[in-house]
Amino acid sequence: MQLIFNSILLAATARQISAHYRWTSLIYNGIDTGPYVSVRQNTNDNNPITDVTTTNLTCNSGGRSAGSTTTANVAAGSIIGFALDEAIFHHGVINVYMAKAPSSVATFDGAGNVWFKIYDLPPVTNDITQVTFEVPPSLPNGEYLVRIEHIALHLALEYPGAEFYIACAQVNVANGGHGTPKPLIALPGYYSGQEPGIKVNIYYLHPVQPKNYTQPGPAVWKG
Ligand SMILES: *[C@@H]1O[C@H](CO)[C@@H](O)[C@H](O)[C@H]1NC(C)=O
Ligand SMILES: *[C@@H]1O[C@H](CO)[C@@H](O)[C@H](O)[C@H]1NC(C)=O
Repeated sequence: MQLIFNSILLAATARQISAHYRWTSLIYNGIDTGPYVSVRQNTNDNNPITDVTTTNLTCNSGGRSAGSTTTANVAAGSIIGFALDEAIFHHGVINVYMAKAPSSVATFDGAGNVWFKIYDLPPVTNDITQVTFEVPPSLPNGEYLVRIEHIALHLALEYPGAEFYIACAQVNVANGGHGTPKPLIALPGYYSGQEPGIKVNIYYLHPVQPKNYTQPGPAVWKG
């Protein structure tokens, strides 16, 4: 009996671990540019961030520095994206932010009121393997971090509970315009963890299409 119980427990644990996922690759021109080529390498395997007040919220654990990450040349108005190593398993939402580097993005840590939101997806279910979005057409030329987060909400009843799966890519934007991205927020800084969209019982709201779900983060800058 004991043996059977143990193997069930083991199977459950293994499933939980494999349910985690990483944003590993930048997509540009419809092509996956490869794991950790233009996406900064993280140091916490495929584990999420749950404390929204630490510098891990900026670009995941280890992502505040570039390491060997290369910067991809992209055009304003073009479609870029992120691919995952495994399909998203948990219910949650996706936000994409950008931040302009003062000079080279390779030495930019993303600190301060520098982030603006360019895209979001309201409560989505699982099985997403990549997310694509437009580089805002009027975005000024220059080097930027592009930051994606999936906020998994299956354990979000209390804070900390929501799981933040984060990655940052380095891009050099050309063919841009003279837009003024806004509002600019800090990550960490903007989220408290107490937002109705971060501390939320999605099972109470089930099926996961809550009518009054409040997307975390500021409004999208349309550019
Ligand atoms: C960032 O996350 C890593 C891995 O979970 C952890 O060891 C480290 O203490 C965290 N850093 C901060 C500043 O909280
Ligand atoms: C939905 O609306 C109720 C009542 O106004 C509020 O208490 C709750 O926080 C809202 N939920 C979300 C996820 O915004």
